[in-house]
Amino acid sequence: MMKGCKFTILKGIHVSIAVLTLGFVTIMLWPWENNPFLTTFLLAQQRFRHPSSDVVVNASNISWSYGGHTKVNKPILKKEAPMKRERHNPSSSTKSVTTFTSDVEDSDEEVLSAENAGCNYAKGRWVADSRRPFYSGSGCKQWLSGMWACRITQRTDFSFEGYRWQPKNCKMKEFNWFSFLRRMGNKTIAFVGDSLGRQQFQSMMCMVSGGEEMPEVEDAARDYGLVKPRGAKRPDGWVYRFPSTNTTILYYWSASLSDLVPLNSSDRNSDVAMHLDRPPAFLRRYLHCFDVLVLNTGHHWNRGKLEQNRWVMYVNGKPNENEEFEDIGKAKNFTVHSFVRWLDSQLTSHPRLKAFFRTISPRHYLNGDWNTGGTCNNTVPLSRGSEVLQDESNDKVIERAVRGQR
Ligand SMILES: *[C@@H]1O[C@H](CO)[C@@H](O)[C@H](O)[C@H]1NC(C)=O
Ligand SMILES: *[C@@H]1O[C@H](CO)[C@@H](O)[C@H](O)[C@H]1NC(C)=O
Ligand SMILES: *[C@@H]1O[C@H](CO)[C@@H](O)[C@H](O)[C@H]1NC(C)=O
Ligand SMILES: *[C@@H]1O[C@H](CO)[C@@H](O)[C@H](O)[C@H]1NC(C)=O
Ligand SMILES: *[C@@H]1O[C@H](CO)[C@@H](O)[C@H](O)[C@H]1NC(C)=O
Ligand SMILES: *[C@@H]1O[C@H](CO)[C@@H](O)[C@H](O)[C@H]1NC(C)=O
Ligand SMILES: *[C@@H]1O[C@H](CO)[C@@H](O)[C@H](O)[C@H]1NC(C)=O
Repeated sequence: MMKGCKFTILKGIHVSIAVLTLGFVTIMLWPWENNPFLTTFLLAQQRFRHPSSDVVVNASNISWSYGGHTKVNKPILKKEAPMKRERHNPSSSTKSVTTFTSDVEDSDEEVLSAENAGCNYAKGRWVADSRRPFYSGSGCKQWLSGMWACRITQRTDFSFEGYRWQPKNCKMKEFNWFSFLRRMGNKTIAFVGDSLGRQQFQSMMCMVSGGEEMPEVEDAARDYGLVKPRGAKRPDGWVYRFPSTNTTILYYWSASLSDLVPLNSSDRNSDVAMHLDRPPAFLRRYLHCFDVLVLNTGHHWNRGKLEQNRWVMYVNGKPNENEEFEDIGKAKNFTVHSFVRWLDSQLTSHPRLKAFFRTISPRHYLNGDWNTGGTCNNTVPLSRGSEVLQDESNDKVIERAVRGQR
């Protein structure tokens, strides 16, 4: 099998091989949608991986964005970023004016990294900023799922959109999509995880396109074997390439960071072996394509999700016999540790890769959780404070797994 992400660099004598390979792949792809054998054979793993219920609203009439964008061959490089760059007036800050600064220009790069040595971006606070949001929640139709576009729901309060994260004791560049794309030129950013990762991916797509339509962005899903299996709600991932800088941003659904293999690939309702000690095949195959990898897992590690997804734990290629994993938190711990150990071992042979593990965002329910009578009608931003100064992560399992790793 061709390693999709690499085919754009084949040159000279390799071109003929590339053409042959492309021809072959075209033949393979052409009957893809119609031929049940090929579909079964090639997509067996993917088609069973659909998150069955991330949806918490009645989304029956909300469509998913699959991409399907028109390709424009000529790269378009926009000259100016649409975001205004006027200085922020930190009138609302008091004692922190000196430590909470932002809006550093590109040229200050080296000074910035020297000053930020040892800085912890996770400590800081949210400050009101009239330059937010970066994109309109109703305007970014190209990338934002309807069910996450709060601006097109019946919600009426939007003050939560007007905040900026300000790390304590570090200078942070103001985000600018134009310079971001340039800095990420020829690079691939991959989000791999559950729907939180998908949200982060969509948000980044909206930020990078400044919330504007970008018809020139190419759908590169096929380079990564990601097509929507027939009858599935959505594909397992999306891949977009910004031709002006050759920046690729992708998302792949892997809610458990374990390898999922249906036990009977010709049965859509088959149980799925969830190999706790094996990273997803997609990552093993495409890791060499990535420059930045943002991982997450968490919300699917409970009995309900396991049953819904028909996941059956496997260890060492065999159904799990370790009774400890009846406690699903222990199974998660085992998986995350195995995963992180594997990834760390890969970094030696993938020196340009930077990997990040994000944890889950706080819940917003009041007076209980989602299933214990809580409500999420709190519409006042930062009602529990605006500062985060703790040293530890709230997810101890992930924190311990990544500690001391690269
Ligand atoms: C969702 O909405 C559709 C029509 O808009 C309706 O038929 C269906 O019963 C609703 N489902 C739930 C769970 O409310
Ligand atoms: C969903 O459908 C209902 C009627 O079935 C309609 O009133 C509502 O506006 C629709 N919502 C969206 C976001 O399209
Ligand atoms: C991408 O790499 C090519 C060489 O392969 C180089 O000419 C080009 O300037 C690079 N683009 C960016 C935005 O870094
Ligand atoms: C695009 O970037 C990839 C790396 O992500 C690189 O391999 C490829 O050569 C680049 N293509 C061009 C045309 O510069
Ligand atoms: C796999 O699923 C197919 C379709 O449901 C069924 O006909 C077949 O018997 C199953 N194979 C096994 C080994 O269970
Ligand atoms: C998590 O796994 C690690 C590595 O196997 C182990 O050292 C640690 O005790 C486990 N922690 C829990 C809470 O199970
Ligand atoms: C949220 O709703 C609950 C019950 O529906 C109510 O008791 C509570 O006062 C509401 N809280 C806010 C902040 O509106």
